[in-house]
Amino acid sequence: MVRSLGWNPITRFFAAMIIVLVVALTAFTSAQNNRKILIAHRGASGYAPEHTVESYKLAIEQGADYVEQDLQITKDGVLVCLHDLTLERTTNVKEIFPDRFKTDVSEDQPQGSRSSKHWYVSDFTLAEIKQLDAGSWFNEKFRGSKIPTFQEAIDLVRGKAGLYPETKAPEVYGKRGFNMEKLVLDALKKNKLDKPGADRKTPIIIQSFSSESLRKMRLEMKTKLPLVFLINSDPQNKWFSTEGMKSIKAFADGIGPGKGLIERNPEIVKLAHDAGLTVTPYTFRIGSQGKYKDVREEMSQFLYTYGVDALFTDNPDQFPRK
Ligand code: G3P
Ligand code: CA
Repeated sequence: MVRSLGWNPITRFFAAMIIVLVVALTAFTSAQNNRKILIAHRGASGYAPEHTVESYKLAIEQGADYVEQDLQITKDGVLVCLHDLTLERTTNVKEIFPDRFKTDVSEDQPQGSRSSKHWYVSDFTLAEIKQLDAGSWFNEKFRGSKIPTFQEAIDLVRGKAGLYPETKAPEVYGKRGFNMEKLVLDALKKNKLDKPGADRKTPIIIQSFSSESLRKMRLEMKTKLPLVFLINSDPQNKWFSTEGMKSIKAFADGIGPGKGLIERNPEIVKLAHDAGLTVTPYTFRIGSQGKYKDVREEMSQFLYTYGVDALFTDNPDQFPRK
């Protein structure tokens, strides 16, 4: 084609170079677009206590694209990074504040706890929470680790990976007079991270199990940041149908199903993709890889056979890159 245009050899050489460059760039961009995304679940929480500086730093060292933050709110209205509504599973709160518990409130049952006594994050100020040891429950060598604030997580991760905050139990905090969605978006705005692409090295994705929370952020607060709807079960087939996926698309950009849902029905991935939604299952960890030889093989199956876009793992170093 270049020859038939009748150009001189130099023009032909440069034209050929431009074509080669365009082809290479297109291939590179397409590879980048298909790049699978690694989210460090509560940091590298397979190796260091979840939601601590140590687990976040390790996640970055192990190549995480995003570091996850589950968010709770202190009595004085500060966002902190902690999975549970209560402090007793991952801190020494029982020793430091032995009398500051509430007896069981059934709607607020924290994960995995059968105790009738609970030490709620929202009953403690940040100054009190900072007195707690959040590391030694995991391993004595982490004694003295602290619960980070969301701001401290932003400062630590910024420029090195993305942030993936989750509005955790926003309806519970709503009943206690807090507006979790506003706190999260205000924090991001204060850090100039509230617009997609604002900091190329620090992309933001917000996730929630609460469709209401996501609706509020997308439809009322008008955020353009990507939103992911977490789904732990779908008994009435409310979400996993063509119509269901379309309805999710009205308030989110992706789904985050429990991995068992996809294992039982890999068609979910196509249904979501056809609706323009990304798919990010949770949680992949050593010791819970089911029928697979190891967690790396399990993650490979989900990423490269089922075709999910990203996943949450406690073991970022096991993520299978191609
Ligand atoms: O956010 C994805 C995954 O973390 C959801 O489960 O309970 O660990 O927050 P959970
Ligand atoms: Ca989470």
